[in-house]
Amino acid sequence: ANANTATFSGITTGAPSTGEAAALTILYGSQTGNAKGVATKLKEQAESRGLAVKLVSMADYKPTALKKEKFLTVVVSTYGEGEPPEDAETLHEFLATKKAPKLNGVKIAVIGLGDSSYEFFCQTAKDFEQRLNKLGAETVYQRADLDVDYDDEAATWITGALDNFEPDLKAQQGATGGQVVAFGAPVTAASQYTKQNPFAAELSLVQKITGRDSSKDVRHVEISLEGSGITYTPGDSLGVYFLNDEALVDEVLELTQIDATATVKLGDAELSIRDALIEKLELTQSYPGFVEKYAIATGVPELLKLVEDKAAMREYIEPRQIFDVIRQNPAKVEAQTLVDCLRKLQARLYSIASSQTEVEDEVHLTIGLVEFEAFGSEHLGGCSGYLARRAEEGCKVKVFSEHNDNFRLPANDETPVIMVGPGTGIAPFRAFLQERDARGASGKNWLFFGNPHFTQDFLYQVEIQGYLKSGLLSKVDVAFSRDQAEKIYVQDKLRQNSKGVFAWLEAGAHFYICGDANRMAKDVHQALVDIIKDNSGKNDEDAEQYLKDLRSANRYQKDVY
Ligand code: 2AM
Repeated sequence: ANANTATFSGITTGAPSTGEAAALTILYGSQTGNAKGVATKLKEQAESRGLAVKLVSMADYKPTALKKEKFLTVVVSTYGEGEPPEDAETLHEFLATKKAPKLNGVKIAVIGLGDSSYEFFCQTAKDFEQRLNKLGAETVYQRADLDVDYDDEAATWITGALDNFEPDLKAQQGATGGQVVAFGAPVTAASQYTKQNPFAAELSLVQKITGRDSSKDVRHVEISLEGSGITYTPGDSLGVYFLNDEALVDEVLELTQIDATATVKLGDAELSIRDALIEKLELTQSYPGFVEKYAIATGVPELLKLVEDKAAMREYIEPRQIFDVIRQNPAKVEAQTLVDCLRKLQARLYSIASSQTEVEDEVHLTIGLVEFEAFGSEHLGGCSGYLARRAEEGCKVKVFSEHNDNFRLPANDETPVIMVGPGTGIAPFRAFLQERDARGASGKNWLFFGNPHFTQDFLYQVEIQGYLKSGLLSKVDVAFSRDQAEKIYVQDKLRQNSKGVFAWLEAGAHFYICGDANRMAKDVHQALVDIIKDNSGKNDEDAEQYLKDLRSANRYQKDVY
C-alpha cells in the first residue's frame, strides 16, 4: 500500500557557489513530487522576502556539505511502513552513522508529509529532525507533520518558519554584503490545470479487462483531455477526483440527524452539507483522525476510549471506512461539526497507461476496483468505486496531470529496458511501449507481468502479444500465480532468467518496477540482489551497492504504491 506520498527526481539547480552570502538551504526528499512541491513553495516565498535560497534534492546533496550549512529546512515525505522516499535514503542513513558531522550552530526547521492512515505517520521527518538535533543542530521552528490534505497547513508552516529565519538570514546577508542569489530550476507550469484547479474531462470509456471469473475487477479507463492543453509524459500520473456514493451520503445524514440542505463552510466556500459530502469530503478512507474528532464531538464512550489507546485505535479503524464508524455509532451532530471532523477529499493518483504520441489528447488508466465485504455490506474504494460503478461514460471527471521525473524511459532510444509490472503495475509500461513504438526506438524491451490466472487476468494480452510479434518486445515473461499448485511470482521469473537479466544490466539496461510496494517491490529487489551476487561473485553489500549505483544513474526506478 502506498503511502504516505511521493516524486520527482532531484532536478536541482546545478547551483553556483553562494559566495559568502548566507542562504537558506531547502533540502527535500520526495517520492511522487508532493514534498518537492512544498519545497518549491518555500523557496518562492523565501525569495519574495528577498532571502537567498538554495533548493536541493537529497539525492544530489553531498552529506559533507552539511558542515557548511547555517540555515537548513528539510521537507521530506514518508511512505510505506515509515520509510524515506528513495532519494532521501542515503542521507537518512548517513545522519545516523558515526561519519555524520557535528552541527552545532546550525538552525533547522523540518516539515514532513505523510498519510495518517499509516502507523508510522511522517516517521522520516521525525527521524531527520531527531538525527539533526542529535548532531547539535537547533530546531528554531516547530516541525509540522502534514496529512494528505496538506496545502493550507503547508502554507501556514512556511510563513511561520520564514518569520523565524528571516531576521538572522537578513543580518548575515547584510554582514557579508551578500547579494540575493536564487537557485533552483525554474518552475514550469505545464498547463493551467492543477490539483487546485482540475480540468473537467469527459470520461470516454470504462471497460472491465479481467475475466468474468476473475477474483479482481480491473478497468481500462479512457479520458478525453481535449481542449485542456494538458500534456503528460510516460511515467506521469493522473490525479482524478470523484464523487461519493449518494446513497451513502444520505445514510450518513440520516444517522447524524442533519438536514441535507444545511449550509456549511469549507475553506472560503459555502455549500450544502449534502453537496459537501458528495464532492468535497472523504467518506471511504480509514484513518484514526476522524474517529478522534467524531468521538469528541459526539461523546460516544466506546470511541472516546479509543482516543486514549493508540493500538486499539489502529485495530479498530483498520477494517473500517469512515462511514462504518458513523453507521455503528450514530449520533446527532451539527452539520458544520461533522464537516470539521472529516478530511478534504483527495484526488487519487493513477499511473498513466498511455503515451500522447499514440493517443494524442486522450489519457488511459488501468484501475483495480477496491472492493471488500465488511460488517455485512459491500465496501468500495472512493475513486475506483465511482469509476467502476457509478460514473457513466460521457460524464465529466476532474483531472490534472502530475509529473514524475523519477520514472522515465531512458533518453537514449537504444538503451534496453526491463519492466516489472504485475497486476495494475502494468500501466506505465503500456505507456512506455506505446511511446517506444511511436518513436521507433531500437532499444530492446523486456516485460515481466504477473497476475492470478492466465485466462482471467492477462491484462492487455492482445497488445502485449502484438508487440512481441512486431519485435517491439524482445521478451515477455509471465507469472500466473495461481495456475499451478506452487505460487509463481514475477521475482521467480526474474530468478529463472538470472543470467539474461544480469547481462542486460551489464549492457546498460534500465530496470523499472511498478506495483505493490509492500511485498512485490521488496521481493523483486531481493531477487535482483541475488541475481547480481550469483553472476558477479559480489557479496550482499556490494550487490546492494551495485543497485545503489544503478539508482544514482537513474537506471533503477520504482513507481510503487
Ligand atoms: P497472488 O494473489 O496469487 O498471491 C498481482 O496482484 C499478482 O501479484 C498476483 O498474481 C499476486 O499473486 C501476485 N503477488 C502477490 N504477492 C506477491 C509478491 N510478494 N511478489 C510478487 N507478486 C506477488
